[in-house]
Amino acid sequence: MSLHEFAKRFGELTDEDFFILSIMERNLTKFREVPYQVILQSINFSEAKLERSLKKLHELRLIWSPRGKKIAYVLNYLGLDALALRTLSLKGIVSGLGMSIGVGKEADVYDAITREGKRVAVKFFRIGRPSFKKYERVRESLVRVHNYLEASIRAAYMEFKALLMLKGKVPVPSPLYRTRHVVVTELFEGVELALLSKLENAEEVLLKIIDAIKSAYEAGVVHRDLSAYNVLVKADGGIILIDWPQWVEKNHPQAPLYLERDVKNILSFFARKWNIWNIPPEYEKIIDELLGKSINI
Ligand SMILES: Nc1ncnc2c1ncn2[C@@H]1O[C@H](COP(=O)(O)OP(=O)(O)OP(=O)(O)O)[C@@H](O)[C@H]1O
Ligand SMILES: [Mg+2]
Repeated sequence: MSLHEFAKRFGELTDEDFFILSIMERNLTKFREVPYQVILQSINFSEAKLERSLKKLHELRLIWSPRGKKIAYVLNYLGLDALALRTLSLKGIVSGLGMSIGVGKEADVYDAITREGKRVAVKFFRIGRPSFKKYERVRESLVRVHNYLEASIRAAYMEFKALLMLKGKVPVPSPLYRTRHVVVTELFEGVELALLSKLENAEEVLLKIIDAIKSAYEAGVVHRDLSAYNVLVKADGGIILIDWPQWVEKNHPQAPLYLERDVKNILSFFARKWNIWNIPPEYEKIIDELLGKSINI
């Protein structure tokens, strides 16, 4: 079941169901598989209710029992999604999940609406998401699943931290909330730079990106995965830089290397695709100062 399908059935989950999910979450780092007995000891309702709940959560694929029922359970991404969605819904940050606006290797991004009717982007991290076939086939990756959930929680934490540091200084999606492996930001109505087949004022866009890299550096942050896929461009030429979970602080030992790679990625993209081989001298200077040396595109 996809998150989108699940979201429609969200209302079917009871307080007991959420209680069990939160027991699973609490034990995420403690057990590879949470023993049935541990769950049983943690509930404040009957075992009959527990069994009904586990069956439902299992059918909805929020949890999985790798060795059969009543032995042990693991929390699936969908189970963590359910917990995050509940928090977002209680806080009024997401009152309806809309279309998927980006499915990548590491995250699914959805268009959503807040209680006040504001449109937002909701990013669910999916680190190490195995393909479905693999999921069925490779038992071992299943047992490791909860480590991926932790990695995703960490990624969301890191991305949100960067966005808070950069907000107001660098064009980034404005951070609104983070819970577990989910980051909510304002929705930016733009398209990935890499996908544009027409771009007026390409040079202007390039210079805005250079300014943004510089401002981020001044705020202490190096993106580390900057490419034309992580720049969104609006129809009016406005830009934002997205996708920050892998950022490093500017005093990280590898920061100069990462910064150079980010800058080169962007410069060579504009050279290749938009035939821009030269930039104004004041921007050459910005780059030289940032990198501490001159580079060739
Ligand atoms: N704030 C936002 N407003 C509008 N669209 C967004 C926003 N954030 C992300 N998106 C869309 O979702 C896509 C994926 O987002 P992001 O780059 O942050 O995730 P990802 O982990 O890089 O996914 P991938 O593995 O594909 O690189 C973006 O390319 C963009 O189209
Ligand atoms: Mg991306």
